Amino acid sequence: MNDLFNLRGKVAVVTGGSGTLGGSISKYLAANGVKVAVIGRTQENVDLRLSKIESSGGEGIGLVVDVLNVEDLKKARQKIMNKWGRVDILVNTAGGNMPGATLTEQQTVFDMKIKDFNKVTDLNLNGTVYPSLVFGEVMGEQKSGSIINISSMATMSSITRVPGYSVAKSGVEIFTKWLAMELATKFSEKIRVNAIAPGFFISTQNEKVLLNEDGSLTERSQKVIAKTPMGRFGKIDELNGAVHYLSSEAATFVTGTIIPVDGGFSSFSGI
Ligand SMILES: NC(=O)c1ccc[n+]([C@@H]2O[C@H](COP(=O)([O-])OP(=O)(O)OC[C@H]3O[C@@H](n4cnc5c(N)ncnc54)[C@H](O)[C@@H]3O)[C@@H](O)[C@H]2O)c1
Repeated sequence: MNDLFNLRGKVAVVTGGSGTLGGSISKYLAANGVKVAVIGRTQENVDLRLSKIESSGGEGIGLVVDVLNVEDLKKARQKIMNKWGRVDILVNTAGGNMPGATLTEQQTVFDMKIKDFNKVTDLNLNGTVYPSLVFGEVMGEQKSGSIINISSMATMSSITRVPGYSVAKSGVEIFTKWLAMELATKFSEKIRVNAIAPGFFISTQNEKVLLNEDGSLTERSQKVIAKTPMGRFGKIDELNGAVHYLSSEAATFVTGTIIPVDGGFSSFSGI
């Protein structure tokens, strides 16, 4: 067995680490010997995730931080540096759609409230940019690190009802490519920035749109499944392999990429 995929001893920060996908990623990294700082919005959720990490023998800390608050992100960075002295991996999972910013079937884009558009774009774009700047700076000093952003299928072609989210995630993709160039050329080729574009996974932020109250598929999710060659939603642990790869020595020549993990959704025309 070689060391290509060995993550033991690395330090990771996972924003949105108490959410559905971020929670699975945090637990998975900790189970692979990574020290994990879980960033979430409420103490209760962060503590819950941390207890899962610790009960399975992993090491972590939980930090309640709004990813849109740069000063609080810097305080979190200080705590992590005091405890572990470095940051090797940043996974930016904080984000998601919001009820106000998701148009109903009856609404048009002209019904959208600017306040809701601003909220969803702020979280999904700046909520990735700010932590990348705060923790990327540590990587710049270390001259090593891997930043993993989470994009979406909403960047590949238009998806009805979610204009703000689509615009923001498209911004995340070009920011991924831009920061990959910036850090490799001005700091070190050992700092890599990539994104994963998940297909459809049932989670806290989208279950009301994808599932009826009795658990059956909504009309919208039937369309999703019809355009997914694998014919199902992703299981929440199915991003972990891509995160592992991008965090590891197996990906030393990989930067600025967007990797779909989508059951074939983005490669299929639908007919
Ligand atoms: N579930 C899917 O099908 C899917 C598909 C494509 C992309 N994504 C993306 O994956 C990421 C994770 O989504 P999820 O489905 O696990 O949803 P989720 O709602 O379960 O997780 C999102 C997490 O982000 C946290 N968060 C939100 N705003 C925050 C803030 N200001 N500061 C700190 N934390 C904040 C939430 O508390 C939550 O824990 C999101 O970026 C989402 O857009 C999800």
